[in-house]
Amino acid sequence: MSPSAAGPCAPPAAVLCGLAGWVPSRVVTNEHLARRLDTDDAWIRTRTGIRRRHVVDPGQSTSDLAVEAGRRALAAAATDRVDAVVVATTTPDHSCPATAPAVAARLGLTGAAAFDISAVCTGFVYGLASATGLIAAGVAERVLLIGADTYSTIVDPLDRANAIVFGDGAGAVVLRAGHPDEPGAVGHFDLGSDGAHEDLITVAAGGSRQRSRPGEPSRQDRHFAMRGREVYRHAVTRMAASARATLSRAGWKIDDVDHFVPHQANLRILYSVADELGLPRERCVTHVESVGNTGAASIPLALAYAAARQALRPGDRLLLTAFGGGLTWGSCLLTWPTLPAPAHLYDQPPHPHDGLARHHDGLARPHDAPAHPYDQGERTTS
Ligand code: UT7
Repeated sequence: MSPSAAGPCAPPAAVLCGLAGWVPSRVVTNEHLARRLDTDDAWIRTRTGIRRRHVVDPGQSTSDLAVEAGRRALAAAATDRVDAVVVATTTPDHSCPATAPAVAARLGLTGAAAFDISAVCTGFVYGLASATGLIAAGVAERVLLIGADTYSTIVDPLDRANAIVFGDGAGAVVLRAGHPDEPGAVGHFDLGSDGAHEDLITVAAGGSRQRSRPGEPSRQDRHFAMRGREVYRHAVTRMAASARATLSRAGWKIDDVDHFVPHQANLRILYSVADELGLPRERCVTHVESVGNTGAASIPLALAYAAARQALRPGDRLLLTAFGGGLTWGSCLLTWPTLPAPAHLYDQPPHPHDGLARHHDGLARPHDAPAHPYDQGERTTS
């Protein structure tokens, strides 16, 4: 669907009309991790740009985060009715059933269509495409799309390579039927996959492949595993290619992109993709420093974070690009609409030095950054 070519008979587009994010209040800083793992703050910051991540308390699950983000997004859209609830997640509450129906019920949306999307860290972009399809087909007038993940429930806390990277969180958008030419219309997608590399990011146990085998799974198989270095290389190549394909479909040049909102995998990956595209790093929206890699939540959380800081102005042009296990990847474009600024993602204010990439010149952060209350705020050891 080409917005510029949209005629009077064009199918309705999905238009962004509500946005919110939420992260749990328990914070794990790099210093906290260094107390129990063979790692240190300097290694983590240099390799990933991450300073802290939020994690769920014992007993909390993905649906708890999804409900909170969803409730806030519905309030932002000033609506309490949607026709479909879509939850993108790699950490559903249960293998069966999907998490979305329970989220819908808890939001007072019983009766709405509800299903999960399993596309790992690309789930939110796949979700935008699915919501666009539901609206274009006339199945839904309004869709609540939530990206929510609790990686702390699947990452081995003793696995230093992954425990430093991932955090928990949820981001949500409300999409309504509208015109392809209006601000907020989501359009021009590129989605792809390469299952030949499914082994690069896995939780080996818990599915039919393992359950149909005799014997109990090993501790390693029950946890999230990632071949980080190879994933890194694929992430940069695939995200750059997907971004280029999407821009070319829309007839946009790199210079037309005011904000690049990549999946927040690792600051080095984000900047490498920007460099590969020839996009100034200042145009990258980054939030990974404060929340780590939050999987399917990372793009809507980054959007909510940037919007809360009023960094996104109506009419600004955004390029969203994600990459994840599968392998999967995807991109889409969006012109920023007039939206109420989302409330804080945090129950307490964020670190004063957390910010968008334009506020710093690479991976380095000021060494004299004031101590943040979260640094003493770990509620329990994780
Ligand atoms: O969201 C889906 C997509 N995910 C991604 O895109 C993530 C992609 N990958 C990454 O972000 C990075 O690969 C990691 C951050 C996970 C790892 O960084 P890296 O620079 O690729 O490190 P590495 O795995 O190649 O390990 C380099 C060295 C190893 O030591 P030797 O073998 O060179 O002696 C590791 O054992 O660093 C060691 N290492 C650590 N050292 C201190 C690994 N983790 C740590 C750690 N602290 N936490």
